[in-house]
Amino acid sequence: MPVTELGPERCDALLRFFEALPEGDLTFIKEEVTDPDTVRSWATDTSPGGRWVAVDTGGEGADGTDEVTGYVAVRPLPGWSDHVGEVRLVVSPTRRGSGLGRELARQALVGAVSSGLSKLVVEVVAEQGAALALFTDLGFTGEALLRDHIRDRTGELRDLMVLAHHVQETWAGMDTVGITDDLDAGSG
Ligand SMILES: CC(C)(COP(=O)(O)OP(=O)(O)OC[C@H]1O[C@@H](n2cnc3c(N)ncnc32)[C@H](O)[C@@H]1OP(=O)(O)O)[C@@H](O)C(=O)NCCC(=O)NCCS
Repeated sequence: MPVTELGPERCDALLRFFEALPEGDLTFIKEEVTDPDTVRSWATDTSPGGRWVAVDTGGEGADGTDEVTGYVAVRPLPGWSDHVGEVRLVVSPTRRGSGLGRELARQALVGAVSSGLSKLVVEVVAEQGAALALFTDLGFTGEALLRDHIRDRTGELRDLMVLAHHVQETWAGMDTVGITDDLDAGSG
């Protein structure tokens, strides 16, 4: 299932993906994802970071068109933290557990480093085993634990973990996941 940079031709499929997501999953994106103008504006956004989608070209969309099955974005933080990118990642609930989240997160890391960001952060709800596993394997480590920081759908308070990836410090370890090769290929 190819992962590709978000372009104008994928925006309608991305809107359909967001519309089908359970409300709880939409909160991970933190943007106005059901507004067509907002989503279309992303395709021409040139700020550091980037946005990528996983596309199922098997024509499984409602009208036989390509279907978006996962989305990842890296958004630069404002002002004096504009060297830091925040990762937001969601995979379609029906496609989880097949490696798609891992592939999208890896693409986001390569893209973010290529665009000059020097630190990445991601907010993960404590007990989110899949998210923790995949970001840890990419060199992210726990940097903060915010206790009782969010309310889940049932109103229960949950802890939020902030994982961070310091590009310079962790770069030596990146050889193990083949990311330096991807960067070299991209710059050549
Ligand atoms: C987190 C998320 C993106 C993972 O997507 P995915 O496509 O299922 O991820 P993968 O299939 O690549 O799985 C990643 C790893 O997590 C592991 N995993 C999956 N579910 C798990 C669980 N409940 N507990 C522990 N590990 C788990 C998988 O085994 C896999 O490891 P492996 O490759 O060694 O087998 C997806 O669950 C999601 O969209 N969650 C809601 C949004 C979210 O939490 N986003 C992250 C913060 S922005």
